[in-house]
Amino acid sequence: MSTSVERFDEEARRKFSRHGQTVVHRGELLRHPVYTRVLHWTVAISFILSLLSGFAIYSAWLFRWLTPLFGGGPMTRFLHPWFGLVFEIFFFFQFLNWFAPMVWTNNDSRWMRRIRQYTTNTEKVESEDVGFFNGGQKLYFWAIVISAVLFLITGLLMWFDNLTGRWVVAVSYVIHDIAGLVMLAGFIIHIYEGTAAQPGTFRAMTNGTVTEKWAWTHHPAWYRAVTGRDPRESYEREQRRVANRERAIEEWERDQDTRDHV
Ligand code: HEM
Repeated sequence: MSTSVERFDEEARRKFSRHGQTVVHRGELLRHPVYTRVLHWTVAISFILSLLSGFAIYSAWLFRWLTPLFGGGPMTRFLHPWFGLVFEIFFFFQFLNWFAPMVWTNNDSRWMRRIRQYTTNTEKVESEDVGFFNGGQKLYFWAIVISAVLFLITGLLMWFDNLTGRWVVAVSYVIHDIAGLVMLAGFIIHIYEGTAAQPGTFRAMTNGTVTEKWAWTHHPAWYRAVTGRDPRESYEREQRRVANRERAIEEWERDQDTRDHV
């Protein structure tokens, strides 16, 4: 991406970090600066509002349950395109902000071939070539990019439906709905991966930091790049530390047992 975009992102990160703080304690690494976090949560809120209002007018069954949240049917229909527009604008900035680390590489294609091991948690630590984002995260990002483009084009065609032919509007409805369903599936997987499936990930988007242990476990190449340390060595050192600690506790317990019996 051009240097003017990089300059814009740098400037935005600098300005936002003046207003919000990211405290990085010992044993932690900065993962997402304030600017990224503000964009992420603005995108997330506008996306959820678009999703809820969209599904409210998509299905007759959901209409009954969801439209009262937005003040009734006509209001929901009125608000939905505006929520969508807010999502589009903020996601555009997130797109610029994340374009560089989201570029697809051969490492990501290799990651995709190992996706079964990833989902079944077979490996304790990720492969050494996994950088700031893994292949699955990049796939999700690019799926959002494609969906955002489709949402925008088809959304505008439906919003201003008197400007084009009826069949164009009809096709737009179908594409818009399919993109919405794909995004819903991706969103559910994303929440699971960002919370329960990978403990320690959620704080990356709240505090902005992660533990070094999290970094070498999930993104070893990024860990190596920011700390200059070998992720495998760090992992093995941690394993030895835990084993020594457990041994010490066992010895202490044995010692206590013998004392109790004397
Ligand atoms: C509301 C619930 C959500 C939660 C709990 C959540 C959580 C997270 C977390 C913890 C990360 C950082 C992952 C990392 O640093 O490795 C992240 C990244 C990301 N989020 Fe969300 N997020 C949510 C909603 C959304 C929504 C609605 C979107 C867009 C439609 C979105 C798009 C992304 C993208 C593209 C990334 C970077 C790639 C990835 O980690 O998958 N998130 N999210």
